[in-house]
Amino acid sequence: RESITSRRQRTFAMIKPDAVGKLGEILDVIEGREFEITQMKMVRLTQSQAAAFYREHEGRKFFEALLEYMTSGPVVAMELTGQDAVSRWRATLGPTDSSVARTDTPNSIRALFGTDKQANAAHGSDSELSATREIEFFFPSSKVVDELLPQTTAIL
Ligand code: PPS
Repeated sequence: RESITSRRQRTFAMIKPDAVGKLGEILDVIEGREFEITQMKMVRLTQSQAAAFYREHEGRKFFEALLEYMTSGPVVAMELTGQDAVSRWRATLGPTDSSVARTDTPNSIRALFGTDKQANAAHGSDSELSATREIEFFFPSSKVVDELLPQTTAIL
């Protein structure tokens, strides 16, 4: 039985195009940190889908490059579930800039598998509210999809 202080929570994780070739190693890290992968799919985003997902960054100088990069190859979208999943997944990723991550958090996913601010291996929701929006974006809970989804808990 879970204690009153435990916070089982969902977050959204996405392996970016530069790190899809390291998917196996990244899944090992995820499983080692006691997240359950409760939904997962590989997709190729269109420009307009990438723009919608990153709409909070519209107008920033890196926005066009970000869309170009995020549509350059497949991404792997995941719903991760576990204790304090939002903050624990952000900590597992490390800082946005992979070169900063290599100095500050050498065992983080961005330190190990990323390159710079843009090609930084993976994304994580910054709040519970963002997590809800981002999970719904990739895994819409329409009736048909609910009926087709094989499972809501991981079989690992
Ligand atoms: S920042 O710099 O604090 O605003 O960065 P952050 O808000 O954490 O994340 C911005 C997302 O855009 C991606 N990106 C870049 N950020 C900053 N500078 C440059 N040049 C840049 N290029 C791309 C960055 O990887 C973040 O993506 P997500 O998927 O949210 O981690």
